[in-house]
Amino acid sequence: MIVLGIETSCDETGVALYHSEKGLLAHRLYSQVKMHADYGGVVPELASRDHVRKTIPLIEGILNEANLSRTDITAIAYTDGPGLVGALMVGAAIANALALALDIPIIGIHHMEGHLLAPMLEESPPAFPFIGLLVSGGHTQLVKVESIGQYEILGESVDDAAGEAFDKAAKMMGLDYPGGPRVAKLAQRARDDFEGTPYRFPRPMTDRPGLDFSFSGLKTFTLNTIHSIKEKQGELSEKDKAQVSLAFEEAVVDTLRIKCKRALEQTGLKTLVIAGGVSANTHLRETLEETLSKIQAKVFYARPEFCTDNGAMIAYAGTQRLLAGQRSEEAFSVKPRWPMNTLEPLK
Ligand code: KG4
Ligand code: ZN
Repeated sequence: MIVLGIETSCDETGVALYHSEKGLLAHRLYSQVKMHADYGGVVPELASRDHVRKTIPLIEGILNEANLSRTDITAIAYTDGPGLVGALMVGAAIANALALALDIPIIGIHHMEGHLLAPMLEESPPAFPFIGLLVSGGHTQLVKVESIGQYEILGESVDDAAGEAFDKAAKMMGLDYPGGPRVAKLAQRARDDFEGTPYRFPRPMTDRPGLDFSFSGLKTFTLNTIHSIKEKQGELSEKDKAQVSLAFEEAVVDTLRIKCKRALEQTGLKTLVIAGGVSANTHLRETLEETLSKIQAKVFYARPEFCTDNGAMIAYAGTQRLLAGQRSEEAFSVKPRWPMNTLEPLK
């Protein structure tokens, strides 16, 4: 089975071809980041229009690369939620039109399930059951994963998502969108060049039981710190930005570390999978590796390009569901809001 995956839920057009026996054949990504950077965030209408321009040429590109033609595609998987409705509609329309024309099956995939399964594309994939930490621009969730489609949400953010918090902290310091990678780079600069940071930011909701998260207090704390630096000396220096970034990154990573460890201990599971844009964060990966090694547990993650949005994760998740005989019936079933614990398990 050769499955074409299409991801258009936000500001990245991702496509991929996944072979059920040979694995990933080709994948491509076009990021709209530069286009949205001028606005400090994603402009939904611009995102949709750009997906219209980019999706078909990207598909042609991966078909050429894999030496295949359209008629070699045996099924299509596309992201049908959650995400920006217009952006989702573009992927859904192209996927459904292609499937109709080629007379092949199609399946709509949950974007966060795509993220969650992305580490399966790596050489030593995790085995079920495991705890999944989903940390993206829109979600922060701890999920108990029995198997594909069997998801129990153990905890989630009651306000901002971790990636969103990174993006907002970056904006406060005048850094470009998306802020996560920029804050991470500045944090590293503080470690390398400025002997760390004098600041300590709060670890929200870690001192009480439970697995929920909250990042809005941390956001306010960051803003207040920036204001007090500005009051003293006017603008933020490069060193200030680096030190605030490090204090911020440490607070987010430490919060995630505490909750992940708690989830593993509560469930008795020994495998953690981290997925979504923030799982590309090197400090998060290293911190979890260190913490988990002490409790004989292991953390798995995807290569950085498969942590952020991509088509490969959708092609992979689609292949697993299609192999189990699942199909999407109704065309254009985009679901901008879609709780992950309502997904159908594999039979
Ligand atoms: O999964 P993703 O590409 O899109 C969504 O589904 O939201 O995640 C994007 C988020 C952004 O908030 C971005 O700032 C964050 O992931 N991100 C990072 C890093 N790389 C991306 N956050 C922290 N450190 C990184 N290295
Ligand atoms: Zn995503």
